[in-house]
Amino acid sequence: MRNHRNSEARANGEALHLDHVWFNYGETPVLEDVSLSIQKGDFLGVIGPNGGGKSTLLKLMLGLLQPSRGGVEVCGQSPEQSSQFMGYVPQHTTFDRHFPINVWDVVMTGRLSRSHLLRPYSGTDKAKAKEALATVGMEALSRRPIGELSGGQQQRTLIARALVRDPSILLLDEAMAAVDPSGQERCTCYSMSCGRE
Ligand SMILES: Nc1ncnc2c1ncn2[C@@H]1O[C@H](COP(=O)(O)OP(=O)(O)OP(=O)(O)O)[C@@H](O)[C@H]1O
Ligand SMILES: [Mg+2]
Repeated sequence: MRNHRNSEARANGEALHLDHVWFNYGETPVLEDVSLSIQKGDFLGVIGPNGGGKSTLLKLMLGLLQPSRGGVEVCGQSPEQSSQFMGYVPQHTTFDRHFPINVWDVVMTGRLSRSHLLRPYSGTDKAKAKEALATVGMEALSRRPIGELSGGQQQRTLIARALVRDPSILLLDEAMAAVDPSGQERCTCYSMSCGRE
Protein backbone atom coordinates (compact mmCIF):
# COMPACT_ATOMS: atom_id res chain seq x y z
CA MET A 1 0.00 0.00 0.00
CA ARG A 2 2.81 2.39 1.01
CA ASN A 3 4.84 1.56 -2.13
CA HIS A 4 1.80 2.08 -4.27
CA ARG A 5 1.15 5.49 -2.67
CA ASN A 6 4.87 6.41 -3.01
CA SER A 7 4.89 6.00 -6.75
CA GLU A 8 1.44 7.55 -7.06
CA ALA A 9 2.59 10.62 -5.07
CA ARG A 10 5.71 11.04 -7.18
CA ALA A 11 3.76 10.69 -10.41
CA ASN A 12 1.23 13.25 -9.25
CA GLY A 13 3.86 15.74 -8.07
CA GLU A 14 2.24 15.60 -4.64
CA ALA A 15 4.20 17.19 -1.78
CA LEU A 16 1.85 16.60 1.12
CA HIS A 17 -1.11 14.32 1.60
CA LEU A 18 -3.45 14.07 4.57
CA ASP A 19 -5.85 11.17 4.43
CA HIS A 20 -8.85 11.38 6.79
CA VAL A 21 -6.77 12.66 9.70
CA TRP A 22 -8.27 12.83 13.18
CA PHE A 23 -6.41 14.15 16.19
CA ASN A 24 -7.19 14.70 19.84
CA TYR A 25 -5.17 15.81 22.84
CA GLY A 26 -6.35 13.27 25.43
CA GLU A 27 -10.13 13.43 25.37
CA THR A 28 -10.25 16.76 23.53
CA PRO A 29 -10.90 16.44 19.79
CA VAL A 30 -8.95 19.00 17.73
CA LEU A 31 -9.05 17.79 14.11
CA GLU A 32 -11.85 15.72 12.63
CA ASP A 33 -11.54 13.94 9.31
CA VAL A 34 -9.13 16.33 7.56
CA SER A 35 -8.09 15.34 4.05
CA LEU A 36 -5.98 17.50 1.79
CA SER A 37 -3.43 17.25 -0.97
CA ILE A 38 -0.75 19.85 -1.69
CA GLN A 39 1.10 19.75 -4.99
CA LYS A 40 4.76 20.70 -5.47
CA GLY A 41 5.04 24.43 -6.08
CA ASP A 42 1.81 25.19 -4.20
CA PHE A 43 1.43 27.78 -1.45
CA LEU A 44 -1.17 27.05 1.18
CA GLY A 45 -2.28 29.40 3.93
CA VAL A 46 -4.40 28.05 6.78
CA ILE A 47 -6.73 30.56 8.42
CA GLY A 48 -8.82 29.87 11.50
CA PRO A 49 -9.73 31.00 15.02
CA ASN A 50 -7.36 30.78 17.98
CA GLY A 51 -7.36 27.20 19.20
CA GLY A 52 -8.76 26.00 15.87
CA GLY A 53 -5.96 23.49 15.32
CA LYS A 54 -3.61 25.24 12.85
CA SER A 55 -0.39 24.62 14.82
CA THR A 56 -1.54 21.07 15.54
CA LEU A 57 -2.00 20.50 11.81
CA LEU A 58 1.58 21.65 11.10
CA LYS A 59 2.96 19.42 13.88
CA LEU A 60 1.19 16.44 12.30
CA MET A 61 2.75 17.32 8.93
CA LEU A 62 6.18 17.42 10.61
CA GLY A 63 5.67 14.12 12.42
CA LEU A 64 5.96 15.84 15.82
CA LEU A 65 2.47 14.51 16.59
CA GLN A 66 0.83 11.31 15.37
CA PRO A 67 -2.76 11.26 14.11
CA SER A 68 -5.30 9.38 16.24
CA ARG A 69 -6.69 8.06 12.95
CA GLY A 70 -5.75 8.52 9.31
CA GLY A 71 -2.40 9.07 7.62
CA VAL A 72 0.07 11.82 6.71
CA GLU A 73 2.53 11.51 3.85
CA VAL A 74 5.24 13.92 2.71
CA CYS A 75 6.45 13.25 -0.83
CA GLY A 76 4.97 9.76 -0.53
CA GLN A 77 6.87 8.95 2.69
CA SER A 78 6.21 9.28 6.40
CA PRO A 79 6.94 12.77 7.85
CA GLU A 80 9.83 11.26 9.86
CA GLN A 81 11.47 9.93 6.68
CA SER A 82 11.05 13.30 5.00
CA SER A 83 12.20 15.52 7.86
CA GLN A 84 15.37 16.62 6.04
CA PHE A 85 13.22 18.11 3.26
CA MET A 86 11.21 20.29 5.61
CA GLY A 87 11.95 23.69 7.10
CA TYR A 88 9.84 24.79 10.05
CA VAL A 89 9.50 28.01 11.98
CA PRO A 90 7.41 27.46 15.10
CA GLN A 91 4.81 29.95 16.31
CA HIS A 92 6.30 30.52 19.75
CA THR A 93 9.99 30.34 20.48
CA THR A 94 11.55 31.45 23.71
CA PHE A 95 15.24 32.17 23.89
CA ASP A 96 17.32 32.23 27.01
CA ARG A 97 18.42 35.84 26.59
CA HIS A 98 21.73 35.05 28.30
CA PHE A 99 22.59 32.05 26.14
CA PRO A 100 25.90 32.98 24.45
CA ILE A 101 25.04 32.38 20.80
CA ASN A 102 24.88 34.94 18.02
CA VAL A 103 22.68 35.24 14.93
CA TRP A 104 25.25 33.60 12.63
CA ASP A 105 25.59 30.56 14.90
CA VAL A 106 21.82 30.12 15.20
CA VAL A 107 21.44 30.20 11.41
CA MET A 108 24.32 27.76 10.94
CA THR A 109 22.62 25.20 13.20
CA GLY A 110 20.10 24.85 10.37
CA ARG A 111 22.86 23.19 8.32
CA LEU A 112 23.40 20.46 10.90
CA SER A 113 21.74 17.15 10.26
CA ARG A 114 21.31 14.13 12.47
CA SER A 115 23.91 12.21 10.45
CA HIS A 116 26.46 15.07 10.39
CA LEU A 117 26.20 16.59 13.84
CA LEU A 118 29.93 16.87 14.49
CA ARG A 119 31.32 17.70 11.06
CA PRO A 120 32.92 21.11 10.47
CA TYR A 121 30.90 23.64 8.49
CA SER A 122 31.72 23.70 4.77
CA GLY A 123 32.05 26.63 2.38
CA THR A 124 28.60 25.78 1.05
CA ASP A 125 27.16 25.95 4.58
CA LYS A 126 28.62 29.43 5.02
CA ALA A 127 27.44 30.63 1.60
CA LYS A 128 23.90 29.38 2.35
CA ALA A 129 23.91 31.18 5.70
CA LYS A 130 25.05 34.45 4.11
CA GLU A 131 22.36 34.16 1.45
CA ALA A 132 19.63 33.43 4.00
CA LEU A 133 20.71 36.33 6.22
CA ALA A 134 20.60 38.65 3.22
CA THR A 135 17.14 37.36 2.33
CA VAL A 136 15.73 38.24 5.73
CA GLY A 137 17.73 41.48 5.97
CA MET A 138 19.87 40.41 8.95
CA GLU A 139 23.41 40.55 7.47
CA ALA A 140 24.35 43.63 9.49
CA LEU A 141 23.33 41.93 12.75
CA SER A 142 24.95 38.55 12.11
CA ARG A 143 27.38 38.88 15.06
CA ARG A 144 24.75 40.19 17.47
CA PRO A 145 23.96 37.88 20.45
CA ILE A 146 20.50 36.40 20.04
CA GLY A 147 19.42 37.79 23.42
CA GLU A 148 19.98 41.35 22.20
CA LEU A 149 17.53 41.19 19.32
CA SER A 150 14.00 42.51 19.02
CA GLY A 151 11.16 40.00 18.62
CA GLY A 152 10.93 40.62 14.87
CA GLN A 153 14.72 40.28 14.45
CA GLN A 154 14.64 36.97 16.34
CA GLN A 155 11.87 35.79 14.07
CA ARG A 156 13.86 36.77 10.95
CA THR A 157 16.80 34.80 12.33
CA LEU A 158 14.63 31.70 12.74
CA ILE A 159 13.28 32.09 9.21
CA ALA A 160 16.90 32.27 7.95
CA ARG A 161 17.68 29.10 9.93
CA ALA A 162 14.81 27.33 8.15
CA LEU A 163 15.91 28.65 4.72
CA VAL A 164 19.53 27.39 4.99
CA ARG A 165 18.23 23.84 4.95
CA ASP A 166 17.16 24.37 1.34
CA PRO A 167 13.83 22.85 2.26
CA SER A 168 11.51 21.40 -0.35
CA ILE A 169 8.65 22.23 1.99
CA LEU A 170 8.66 25.31 4.18
CA LEU A 171 6.19 25.34 7.08
CA LEU A 172 5.76 28.73 8.74
CA ASP A 173 3.49 28.85 11.79
CA GLU A 174 2.56 32.54 11.85
CA ALA A 175 6.28 33.15 11.49
CA MET A 176 5.72 36.50 9.79
CA ALA A 177 3.47 37.85 12.55
CA ALA A 178 6.30 39.78 14.23
CA VAL A 179 8.07 40.66 10.96
CA ASP A 180 7.37 44.05 9.39
CA PRO A 181 5.82 44.28 5.89
CA SER A 182 9.15 44.82 4.06
CA GLY A 183 10.60 41.68 5.68
CA GLN A 184 7.48 39.71 4.82
CA GLU A 185 7.71 40.80 1.20
CA ARG A 186 11.40 39.84 0.93
CA CYS A 187 10.82 36.36 2.34
CA THR A 188 7.74 35.72 0.20
CA CYS A 189 9.46 36.91 -2.99
CA TYR A 190 12.50 34.77 -2.22
CA SER A 191 10.39 31.68 -1.60
CA MET A 192 8.45 32.20 -4.82
CA SER A 193 11.56 32.82 -6.92
CA CYS A 194 13.03 29.56 -5.63
CA GLY A 195 9.81 27.71 -6.45
CA ARG A 196 9.57 26.48 -2.88
CA GLU A 197 7.20 23.56 -2.64
N1 LIG B 1 -0.05 20.20 24.11
C1 LIG B 1 -1.37 20.35 24.21
N2 LIG B 1 -2.09 19.63 25.12
C2 LIG B 1 -3.43 19.75 25.22
N3 LIG B 1 -4.16 20.58 24.43
C3 LIG B 1 -3.51 21.32 23.53
C4 LIG B 1 -2.09 21.25 23.38
N4 LIG B 1 -1.71 22.10 22.39
C5 LIG B 1 -2.83 22.68 21.96
N5 LIG B 1 -3.92 22.22 22.64
C6 LIG B 1 -5.33 22.59 22.40
O1 LIG B 1 -5.65 22.16 21.07
C7 LIG B 1 -6.44 23.13 20.41
C8 LIG B 1 -5.74 23.53 19.10
O2 LIG B 1 -4.53 24.23 19.42
P1 LIG B 1 -3.59 24.82 18.29
O3 LIG B 1 -2.38 25.33 18.97
O4 LIG B 1 -3.41 23.82 17.21
O5 LIG B 1 -4.50 26.02 17.73
P2 LIG B 1 -4.13 27.20 16.70
O6 LIG B 1 -5.17 27.16 15.62
O7 LIG B 1 -2.73 27.08 16.28
O8 LIG B 1 -4.36 28.50 17.61
P3 LIG B 1 -3.66 29.96 17.54
O9 LIG B 1 -4.36 30.75 16.44
O10 LIG B 1 -3.96 30.54 18.87
O11 LIG B 1 -2.19 29.77 17.29
C9 LIG B 1 -6.65 24.26 21.39
O12 LIG B 1 -7.91 24.07 21.98
C10 LIG B 1 -5.54 24.09 22.42
O13 LIG B 1 -5.96 24.54 23.68
MG1 LIG C 1 -1.09 28.27 16.46
